[in-house]
Amino acid sequence: MVQKKRIAVIGGGFSGLNSIRALKEEGMEPVCFEKTSNPGGTWCYREQAIYGVPSIMPSTIINHSKEIGALSNFPPKKEYPNYMRHAELYQYFKDIGESCDCFGHMIYNREVISVRRSFDYNETGRWILKIKNTEDGEITTDIFDGVMVSVGHITYPKMCEFPGMDKFKGDIIHSHSLKKVDKFAGKRLCVVGIGCSALDAAVETSTVAKQVYLSTRSGSWIFPRVGPHGVPMDYALLRRYLTTLQEIVPISISSKFIEKLFLSPKFNHDLYNLRPQFPVFCKDPSINDSLPSKLISGSVVLKKNVKYFTENGVMFEGDEKITEIDTVIMATGYEWKFPFLEEDIVTTEKDGRINLYKCMWSPNLKHQSLVIIGFVLPFGPGFPLGEIQCRWVAQVFSGKVKLPNKDIMMKDIINRHKENVKRYRPGEKISVRVDYVPYMDDIASQFGAKPNLLKMLITDPKLFQACFFGPCLSYQYRLQGPHKWREARKAILTAKERMKTPLAGNVDSSSNKHDVHYFTLVILLLFISLLINWKGNSVASYLIALLLPRYMSLRSFFLKYFLALLAMPFLVMCEDLLASYIIVIFVPLILASLSLL
Ligand SMILES: Cc1cc2nc3c(=O)[nH]c(=O)nc-3n(C[C@H](O)[C@H](O)[C@H](O)COP(=O)(O)OP(=O)(O)OC[C@H]3O[C@@H](n4cnc5c(N)ncnc54)[C@H](O)[C@@H]3O)c2cc1C
Ligand SMILES: NC(=O)c1ccc[n+]([C@@H]2O[C@H](COP(=O)([O-])OP(=O)(O)OC[C@H]3O[C@@H](n4cnc5c(N)ncnc54)[C@H](OP(=O)(O)O)[C@@H]3O)[C@@H](O)[C@H]2O)c1
Repeated sequence: MVQKKRIAVIGGGFSGLNSIRALKEEGMEPVCFEKTSNPGGTWCYREQAIYGVPSIMPSTIINHSKEIGALSNFPPKKEYPNYMRHAELYQYFKDIGESCDCFGHMIYNREVISVRRSFDYNETGRWILKIKNTEDGEITTDIFDGVMVSVGHITYPKMCEFPGMDKFKGDIIHSHSLKKVDKFAGKRLCVVGIGCSALDAAVETSTVAKQVYLSTRSGSWIFPRVGPHGVPMDYALLRRYLTTLQEIVPISISSKFIEKLFLSPKFNHDLYNLRPQFPVFCKDPSINDSLPSKLISGSVVLKKNVKYFTENGVMFEGDEKITEIDTVIMATGYEWKFPFLEEDIVTTEKDGRINLYKCMWSPNLKHQSLVIIGFVLPFGPGFPLGEIQCRWVAQVFSGKVKLPNKDIMMKDIINRHKENVKRYRPGEKISVRVDYVPYMDDIASQFGAKPNLLKMLITDPKLFQACFFGPCLSYQYRLQGPHKWREARKAILTAKERMKTPLAGNVDSSSNKHDVHYFTLVILLLFISLLINWKGNSVASYLIALLLPRYMSLRSFFLKYFLALLAMPFLVMCEDLLASYIIVIFVPLILASLSLL
């Protein structure tokens, strides 16, 4: 009988759970080591923060909605709120784990302290693990055919240094150790940073504090969870047709599209002096619904970066006098590290490039029997992304799918890094930034699970419509390929029902109308961008870009068609007369028809 492959999974959070599920699907034997006494990682709430263990506040809620963040064959219960609180998310985690007997594969209070190539690695690709029992300190070793490193990367708090900090007599803590806020009653607080942790810290503490100052060096795009017409923001935004737009038009235009349509109507970043230097799609968004009302009521006051500390307070850049402060909360992010790995596995270049193929595989290894899971910073939800990585890994570990050679891997790594450097503001994790849909498609296509939209358009237009114009749900990646799921189609078509249920009201066709409205705008933008690119930024292109919205608002189809016909010959100056005529006749027709939608 062929021996089942034994795979070590390090970490028992969502990534660990996804690893176990995928390995089991492929008939392998996962052994998962979790250093704490519970599964769930970040989402297992603890009263005390422990260095090296992820930590959340009692009030933490997930920042992606339940359908968007669902695993590909496990839709959340329809009764669950769209943005789950941590306890509900933990329950979802437990439901998944129990449904496929994953917890039986987890060993708690076991910290993996070293992972080394085994003595026969060159022939077998096996690994030796040293595992510490965190209760009694006993250290054991074991050999595995493969290793999935699923330890998370938002674990080790990063403190920042500012001049005079050592003189400051108040308390300085990191957001990692922020739990209940009652102890801040009546105090003056300074929260440093403007990521999700900083906003949660500022908003929560401001309910009891005398005054909260929020200090940011670079501003941020603040996304609310509640999107247009009260539907979850990501449910409205994470759609294939929108991501197609993002891929086609310059990033500055698609960023403006999101800013003007979805962000500014709720919260003008200029008015609050929060506009970052980088467009929407080039910087981590910060997600918070309460910040605007806290700022407008003065409970939270925005400040620039900390210039220096004094004994009793802080001098902020641009200020002329010291602001008195009792406590500082550093919400300054997290460091990433894999302290138990051999040094040549996850390597970093001087320019910050992290050498991991598709943010997962080390090109330095002879055998691809070790992989990093969940080490990505997506514009979108993390869980489905970690899950699809695990499904690919299971195919590779089982020998059904091969990885490319080192040269191809390095080329891909370098390209991704270069592209990211061009696009994003500098940062330590710039190499692992990804756009959700393209990354999901990329990983799924490695093992045949990418949905075939063209075929779907012909064979199942209803499903195509839901997949292309509706929210991009992870069930799409179970329509085909290994371990496809028979219920995937139904899960896609019934997602709206599950989204609606906890809202208790009745969502009528008006929300569909809005989908169409945004679609029209997308087509408009595509057209504008086409003109801009085509005509080499000519004045005429910009003029038409300015006039188009006015044109689209005209009611009469015939007036539109007539005006478009009049305008086109001035704009389309193709060398080929026939091409000019085709464009002159058909483009206005298409444009006028679309604007009637
Ligand atoms: C406050 C907060 C809010 C967040 N909100 C969101 C959100 O809304 N949406 C989102 O997508 N992401 C969010 N994240 C990111 C979070 O990392 C992911 O949600 C998710 O939990 C990642 O799962 P994971 O299993 O990769 O990592 P983790 O949840 O960090 O789990 C890793 C596990 O590995 C264990 N471990 C670590 N080292 C070892 C070792 N050497 N040996 C054995 N076990 C080890 C840890 O104890 C832990 O249980 C948030 C993070 C924080 C801190
Ligand atoms: N579900 C939730 O509600 C929730 C809550 C908390 C966290 N999270 C998640 O957890 C992860 C970590 O979030 P995070 O907010 O802790 O970290 P983060 O996103 O990395 O943000 C760190 C912040 O600290 C600032 N900063 C870093 N170094 C600084 C310095 N030297 N001086 C001044 N400012 C400095 C950064 O400013 P710059 O932007 O200028 O670099 C940034 O605003 C994210 O993925 C987030 O989505 C989610």
